[in-house]
Amino acid sequence: MTGGGDWQHHLLRELTDVGSDGAPGVPSPRADVQRTDASLPEPPTTPPSTRPQPRDPRTPAPTPESAPTIDPRLAHALGSPQHGDSAARRAGASLRRLTASAGQDVAEQTRFAQELQQPVTTGRVIAVTSIRGGVGKSTVSALLGRTFNHYRHDPVLTLEADAALGTLPVRMGADTVRWSCGDLARILTPSMQLTDVTGYLVPVADGGWLLPASQGRVGAPLDVRAYRTVTLALRRYFAVTVVDCETLPGEVARTAMDTAHARVVVAPMTAEGVNGTRQVLDWLAQLPHSALATTVVALSAGAPDTTLDPKTAVAHLREPGVPVIPLPYDRHLAQGGPIHTAMLGRSTRDAAVRLAAEVMQRAVRVR
Ligand SMILES: Nc1ncnc2c1ncn2[C@@H]1O[C@H](COP(=O)(O)OP(=O)(O)OP(=O)(O)O)[C@@H](O)[C@H]1O
Ligand SMILES: [Mg+2]
Repeated sequence: MTGGGDWQHHLLRELTDVGSDGAPGVPSPRADVQRTDASLPEPPTTPPSTRPQPRDPRTPAPTPESAPTIDPRLAHALGSPQHGDSAARRAGASLRRLTASAGQDVAEQTRFAQELQQPVTTGRVIAVTSIRGGVGKSTVSALLGRTFNHYRHDPVLTLEADAALGTLPVRMGADTVRWSCGDLARILTPSMQLTDVTGYLVPVADGGWLLPASQGRVGAPLDVRAYRTVTLALRRYFAVTVVDCETLPGEVARTAMDTAHARVVVAPMTAEGVNGTRQVLDWLAQLPHSALATTVVALSAGAPDTTLDPKTAVAHLREPGVPVIPLPYDRHLAQGGPIHTAMLGRSTRDAAVRLAAEVMQRAVRVR
């Protein structure tokens, strides 16, 4: 299914060799979850001679401490996750499924699955950003990372490029984080194997990998150079990398948008949010290499009672020629904390699959 070039087959073999319990030739990140302590990604699972070495022996990378993503004194107060759909709505949906013809649904799902499972010749990078903070970038990135991982059998990475105490690790269900994007920029060397690299990443419970931007403390922001080093190096190992960027027009966000194979701009369902996002689209249209042709808008309803007319909002954003995927208000997403796929509302899951399929289709187009 993943096809791809030799790079993938080579890497997949390496992973299988270290004890995958998945199908032959298919890496199983879950096998690594069982093999390693999720809170302590110990890189040296390889013989000492092949262990990753810092680039410059005079400035060895310090080993960071593992840090909780949520203060344990607060974590117990999270409460139990609530379902995105109310019980009545879920019951109604099951009844409709029983009575309605499923033909069209199945055809659409098959088409999305095919788009999501397209083989890639080199790793694809998908950048997610927005014009304002708090509109759902990390939520959309986590949904995309989980969706790609669900449909694909090759390695998927979700990378946080927002050092402003981002929420991606929490949304991806990571209890602790250790190595950051900036750390990896100093550590990565071309001779490293996939198994060396994954030792520095957080294994995600549902599968796939996470690289946070920080250890969850206020610290130095991620710089453009580190971002470029890391994304360029990690593309060798991961079929898809979803990047949760800082807000535009931050320098890293602009670089990420400019260098990605495809982009998602998250627009909040407000007049000023749609208006600002339209300006971002107009800016993308001016970039060389037709950035707009590889852009998708996620129109996110972060509140249950938005008054902006959705048809007008979608039409305004579609005008420059980009697809707009509405992401509905979802009670499970609204409560914050880790995202449990099974707890998402049905329309949220459908929107996430559609968004991932649209952006993947564009990402594979770029050479
Ligand atoms: N589709 C949705 N339905 C309901 N609530 C949502 C939805 N998307 C996001 N939210 C809410 O908005 C909050 C902020 O989302 P998120 O952290 O993804 O935004 P962000 O753009 O990454 O923020 P920042 O700029 O701070 O990084 C979430 O914690 C959640 O409560
Ligand atoms: Mg965020």
